Amino acid sequence: MTSNVEHKHTWIIGASSGIGAALAKSLAQRGEVLALSGRDATALEAVRSDLAGQGHKVLPLDVRDPATLAAAMDALAQSWPRIDRIIFMAGIYEPMGLADLDVLQVEQILSVNLAGAFNLISVALPILLDQEPRCQVAFCASVAGYRGLANAQPYGATKAGLINLVESLKVEHGERLDVRLISPGFVETRLTEKNSFDMPFRLTPEQAGERIAKGLQRRGFELHFPKRFTWIMKALACLPYALYWPLARRAR
Ligand SMILES: NC(=O)c1ccc[n+]([C@@H]2O[C@H](COP(=O)([O-])OP(=O)(O)OC[C@H]3O[C@@H](n4cnc5c(N)ncnc54)[C@H](OP(=O)(O)O)[C@@H]3O)[C@@H](O)[C@H]2O)c1
Repeated sequence: MTSNVEHKHTWIIGASSGIGAALAKSLAQRGEVLALSGRDATALEAVRSDLAGQGHKVLPLDVRDPATLAAAMDALAQSWPRIDRIIFMAGIYEPMGLADLDVLQVEQILSVNLAGAFNLISVALPILLDQEPRCQVAFCASVAGYRGLANAQPYGATKAGLINLVESLKVEHGERLDVRLISPGFVETRLTEKNSFDMPFRLTPEQAGERIAKGLQRRGFELHFPKRFTWIMKALACLPYALYWPLARRAR
């Protein structure tokens, strides 16, 4: 065993940059022992070397490849007393209009953001369902998945699919797993650097990481922030189509 049983053991997938890296710092400061995953081993090592506490691991993987997820899961099952929490932060984004789709990029975005989450569930569920007390499993979607928006595909479709998937996970296994959905608004990362439009109420990765670290300790299925933006997006999601179209078109 690598660390003390009293520490919470958390695996972050998508920890090499942005919100995931900031979240790792917040959780390590709270005394959690972390495993950091993503494709970029050098970046993961840089994040690890900056964390408070000891016993943190780097487990490079690609969520598109279930074998790499299974190898990391096995390594954790063998070296940790238990897996307390898994946080799926992996995601990629390219702004695209539907008239200019790059189908190769569409396939990549679907395979990381949505198929990657299916891969994790298929690998992790058989092990996690046997764990007592139950493990927390959190997936990072986005308010972009609440409703069809202009110039938001295919990213928006992957996040809508992810929300649907995580809801199903909660319905099927909510008694045995503490299932959580994370829905951020805009956060300043390399992902949103690609946006040329104004991003209202945007947060720094550190602010987002801290909100997730705190929110995952509380009760409730969905953790969404910043509330002054996400409540507007939730209100839009409740509108009937006839009222939604003119508002959504105005934001094109
Ligand atoms: N920034 C925002 O405004 C915003 C808003 C709502 C939701 N989100 C969501 O928040 C999450 C984190 O995004 P971010 O903004 O922090 O962007 P980011 O800095 O680009 O972080 C994305 C993370 O995903 C990992 N990743 C990408 N492809 C992967 C793959 N094939 N296998 C494993 N890991 C992979 C990256 O690691 P490697 O490159 O090392 O693989 C990186 O650690 C994403 O799910 C994103 O959709 C972001």
